Formats: sequence, structure tokens, C-alpha cells
Amino acid sequence: MKILVIGGGGREHALVWKLGQSAGVEKIWCAPGNAGMAQEAECVVVDAGGVTGLVAFAEKVKPDLTVVGPELPLVNGLVDEFLARKWAVVGPDKKAAQLEGSKIFAKEFLQRHNIPTAEMYGAHDSAGGAYGALCAVDWPVVIKADGLCAGKGVFVAPNPDAATDFIERVMEKNELGDGGKRVMLEEALEGEELSFILLTDGERYAPLVPTRDHKRAFDNNQGPNTGGMGAYSSAQLLPADLRDMIEKTIVEPTMNGLAADGIPYQGFLYVGLMLTKDGPKVLEFNCRLGDPETQAILARVDFDLAEVLADAAGGKLKPEKMKWKGGASACVVLASGGYPGKFDTGKEILGLADAARVPDVKVLHAGTRLAGDLIVTSGGRVLGVTATGDTLSAALEKAYEATGKIQFDGMHYRRDIGKAHQQSSAAGD
Ligand SMILES: Nc1ncnc2c1ncn2[C@@H]1O[C@H](COP(=O)(O)OP(=O)(O)O)[C@@H](O)[C@H]1O
Ligand SMILES: [Mg+2]
Repeated sequence: MKILVIGGGGREHALVWKLGQSAGVEKIWCAPGNAGMAQEAECVVVDAGGVTGLVAFAEKVKPDLTVVGPELPLVNGLVDEFLARKWAVVGPDKKAAQLEGSKIFAKEFLQRHNIPTAEMYGAHDSAGGAYGALCAVDWPVVIKADGLCAGKGVFVAPNPDAATDFIERVMEKNELGDGGKRVMLEEALEGEELSFILLTDGERYAPLVPTRDHKRAFDNNQGPNTGGMGAYSSAQLLPADLRDMIEKTIVEPTMNGLAADGIPYQGFLYVGLMLTKDGPKVLEFNCRLGDPETQAILARVDFDLAEVLADAAGGKLKPEKMKWKGGASACVVLASGGYPGKFDTGKEILGLADAARVPDVKVLHAGTRLAGDLIVTSGGRVLGVTATGDTLSAALEKAYEATGKIQFDGMHYRRDIGKAHQQSSAAGD
């Protein structure tokens, strides 16, 4: 099997790593990939967001299967182009990807099918309308930009001044671009957050092992939000009774709702949940795997990933094939100095070979590139040091041991991955 992986971050490196271990895989391309993926696959200079360039490349090399990492090509309709040419691809088409591409579309879907979610106060396409609506909400209120905003489109506003300021920045100053053309106001929920990620072929689905990520930049959930500073996976994260409740009250109604609406959904579906005192409620859908959750999830794969993904693309998912390693896994993200704010790139990364020698560790690359013989930083999140172990503490110990061997100018990371949630329940992890 020849496989094309679209994207160039830690999530995609994890996919390449595990696809490369599949027996039937003879070739992997990545568009555009990174320095880590370049050691395991052929990286090609094609923009991951551009549908035309990706179709042209696939036309040329004819992969047997394409796996789409990020949301942008999905929301831009890449899968529609592939399906029109009868090419096997993992990921939802443009319509189904609206579950992530439009938060208002997702909310209306949830309401239509009576799936538990925060109450929507209203949707607005003008700043005036949104300001006006603030007099009739409870505080805090959650303000969500409708479109893709790379994690910057949601604000839990404590009071009218803060809400007005956010609406002004999003709708009048267009700070988030087109993603902020419409906003939605919704009820603020309280509880602990949990991601539930599944793979579906449109009919059958299989949950992946549970994970939790860490969004804040610094230890103890301090500092600004990031794309994710680490993640871990262990069975303890999701007791069987909670899993059953999520499947019964959220996942099954979602699958049935998609079918009833004539929106066949194939690929990964990421359900962001708040575990409230009234049960789990949906915060959002993502139409792809999370990053860095994927790194922790795929570290526990004990099955042939390429075969399972090809089954899913072909409408023949066999959930029973998906066997997982017991124990736990953890991914510690090493970020550039200043991230998530301004940061420099081009810093030489030292110690990668030493880190790779720690047993059960895989150093997954995110923002890295080759500069001659050197591997240098090229993004905010640079590496995801990923380890497995019989217990979460064993996995964490190995991940941090390997982390200790890596160095680059300005490097920072959290020292409390896998621990933070025990200290604060509503901090937004
Ligand atoms: N209704 C809500 N109540 C409380 N917190 C919320 C609510 N919706 C979102 N949040 C918080 O904002 C974060 C980001 O919101 P989310 O809907 O996941 O959008 P995105 O990931 O696209 O930024 C969530 O992880 C959660 O911490
Ligand atoms: Mg989210």
C-alpha cells in the first residue's frame, strides 16, 4: 500500500510512524511533512490547505490511501475532490466537516437531534446584534466565532465589558479573519473536560482510547491557551459507566443524526465534552484527530493502522480489529521560547539521538525543518516526546527522561503533564 499523509505537525508524524509499522505499507508521502517525517517518509512541498495542489500531486503519484490530518483541507472540500475521482481517503467531506467548520451549524445539528449541549442564546452576523443580545444572557457567557479560528475563536466572558471587547475585536476589527464573521452566544457550562475521539466509516464506529490534553502554556494550568502542551492516555480516564453514558447519550444520537440528515460522515470525529453535573454535554466537534492527543493515542496502537484506515475509507470498518496496548502513554510538547506569543525559529535542536534511545520513547516532530545537516526549530510547538508504560507514571517518567536530553535555545515545556487535572477541575484542560 502507498499512502499519502496530509499535514506537517506532530499529529501527522504520529500517523506516519504507525502507518510505517503496518505490514502492507511500502511507501509514504507527506505533504508537506517536517524534519522528523522526512526520516521515515518522502516529504513533498505541497501546501496542506490547498485542494488543487493536493489533487494534482495525488493525480501524479496515485496513492492507494490518503489520510488527512488537519481540518483546513477537509473544510475546503479536499475529500469531495478525492471521492469524485474514486480515490480512497480518510476524512469527512465538506458538508460533514461543517460540524467543525461552523459552530452554528454544529449547534443547530445538536439541537435538532436533542443531543446534550450548552444552550445557545443566539447567532449574530453583526456586531450590533451581538452587543444587543448581551442584555439577555446569564454571566459568564461563552462567545464563539462561527468559523475556523485556530483555537482563538472562543471566549468565556466574565462580564459585559469583556464580552463587548471580544465581539469588537472579532466582528469589527476582524482580528480572526473570516472565521469571525458570525458569532454565537451560549451558556457557560461547568465541569471537567474530556475528549472522545472515534473512527467511523459512516455506519460503524470505534472509539479510540481516551485522552486528555493540556491547553494552558504553563504548569498548574497557568498562562495563555495554546494548541496543546501535552496529552496522556490511560484507561482510568474513562470509567466504563461513563463511556457507556457518552456512547448512549452523545455518540449514538450523533451517528443517527448524521444519517437522518443525509450527511454521511467518514473519518475521525472528535467530540469535545464537558462532564457537567447533569451529565456529559457537547462543547464542540472537530472533524479530525486532535494534536497532541493523537500522539498519545497512536502510541497505544496494537493493530495494523493502515489496514484499519483502508477499511474505514472503503466503508468496511471492523472495530474488532482495533486492539490497544494496555497501560498508558504520555506526550510532552517542547515549545519555542515565547510560544504561544511571538517566538524565533531556526534554533538548532540538540540531543534527539540520545532521547530516542530511551526505551519506549518516540520523539515526534512538529515544528522542525532540516537546515543542511542540522535539525532546527520552525514552529511554536517543536517536538512531542511520547512514551508508553505499564502505568501513567511509568510513561511520564520515560517521556520526561527523554525530554531532559533535548535542548534548543528558548525551549519550554510543562512539567505537570498527566497531573494537572487532579488539581483543578474547571481550568479548561
Ligand atoms: N459552553 C461552554 N462553557 C464553558 N466553557 C466552554 C464552553 N464552550 C467552550 N468552552 C471552553 O472554551 C474552550 C474552547 O472551546 P471549543 O468549543 O472547544 O472551541 P475551539 O477548540 O474551536 O477553540 C473549551 O475547551 C472550553 O474550555
Ligand atoms: Mg476545542
